[in-house]
Amino acid sequence: MKAYKDRSKEELLTLKNELEAEYKKFQELGLKLDMSRGKPSAEQLDISMGMMDVLNSSTDLKCREGIDCRNYGVIDGIQEAKELLADLIEVPADKIIIYGNSSLNVMYDTVARSMTHGVMGSTPWCKLDKVKFLCPVPGYDRHFAITEYFGIEMVNVPMTPEGPDMDMVEKLVSEDAAIKGIWCVPKYSNPQGITYSDETVRRFAGLKPAAEDFRIYWDNAYNVHHLYEDDQDNILEILSECEKAGNPDMVYKFSSTSKISFPGSGVAAISASYNNLKDIKKQMSIQTIGHDKLNQLRHVRYFRNLDGIKVHMMKHAAIMRPKFETVLDILETELSGLEIGSWLKPKGGYFISFDALDGCAKAIVAKAKEAGVVMTGAGATYPYGKDPHDSNIRIAPSFPPMEELLQATKLFVLCVKLVSVDKLLESK
Ligand SMILES: Cc1ncc(COP(=O)(O)O)c(C=O)c1O
Repeated sequence: MKAYKDRSKEELLTLKNELEAEYKKFQELGLKLDMSRGKPSAEQLDISMGMMDVLNSSTDLKCREGIDCRNYGVIDGIQEAKELLADLIEVPADKIIIYGNSSLNVMYDTVARSMTHGVMGSTPWCKLDKVKFLCPVPGYDRHFAITEYFGIEMVNVPMTPEGPDMDMVEKLVSEDAAIKGIWCVPKYSNPQGITYSDETVRRFAGLKPAAEDFRIYWDNAYNVHHLYEDDQDNILEILSECEKAGNPDMVYKFSSTSKISFPGSGVAAISASYNNLKDIKKQMSIQTIGHDKLNQLRHVRYFRNLDGIKVHMMKHAAIMRPKFETVLDILETELSGLEIGSWLKPKGGYFISFDALDGCAKAIVAKAKEAGVVMTGAGATYPYGKDPHDSNIRIAPSFPPMEELLQATKLFVLCVKLVSVDKLLESK
């Protein structure tokens, strides 16, 4: 396949006519498809329906320690839920707090508490002239939305195939005391599906921040979200690496069962050093009398242990894998060799990240929308919604049924071609 950039103006004009005719056919179909968010499909939600049956009016609703889960209390989670979530994120059960239904909520709370009350006795961020966060890009829009909401200045750090550019992270963190945090999705990252290498994790653990209240926000959202049974990414455990490196307090590790059981009705957790947990619990004891213990019990009785979760995740994988492969096959068949886009092949997570020619992403997403397919907004993967190259587009294959995903992806590659042809014609 001849690269578009090597084609003559006449060749591109002929191609443009053909592509426009194809696009018109798509418009006539009157599609109404949504590929915008990484939600599990209804079929995936069905996998967890058994969870609705493990508790009923005749169930013993006392947890292992004999506490009645229907009542108030147990601020940091029932012991068996701590053990389940601790196993899930590979930390000791005494270094975890179980929260409510959303890890994003825990992350928001963590930033909010640091703003108003500081971190382990340090000056509250709201009293400082400037607070900054490092943001590996492309990244998760809702992380960026939290720091933007609190007026925290976000600094882009490019992702590499091994994780964030650690030379840059080390330099910035050690020189600038205004940098108080970094957003990380270390495994099957959102949106690229990259897993940080051992060296990256060790370099994180060994950071020498100028700010004593600098924390790594380690969002372990996709720890067990593999696509394959026999080809899975592994990652070093950050809490113990930080301990080994003499930085035990430098990380907060977040997680939830949102995309294991039910998004919006899962169980979330934070793991950190004892010092950090003590600091967090001071706020928590004012904030709530306890989270939803019945839901914690439901999760424990349904999954039983980590093996139960692993078996369950392979059922998700059986649904997700063909969807990822469908999208990747279409990208490969339709776009390889044309040099108008690049993408990675993740082994897990929820997204495929597509990089179009510079200056094309917004136009591609707009073109897809005009023909009835809503994608994640271009720019969403960057702080402030500003992709400096206007190039990155997040593809979320999980939600649409297969037939719709097929059509949406075909339309997407067509829009990539059309917009790229226009872009190249500008310079001919
Ligand atoms: C990286 C990442 N973190 C957190 C979340 C949301 O997690 P929760 O449902 O626990 O709030 C998502 C959801 O897409 C995500 O992609």
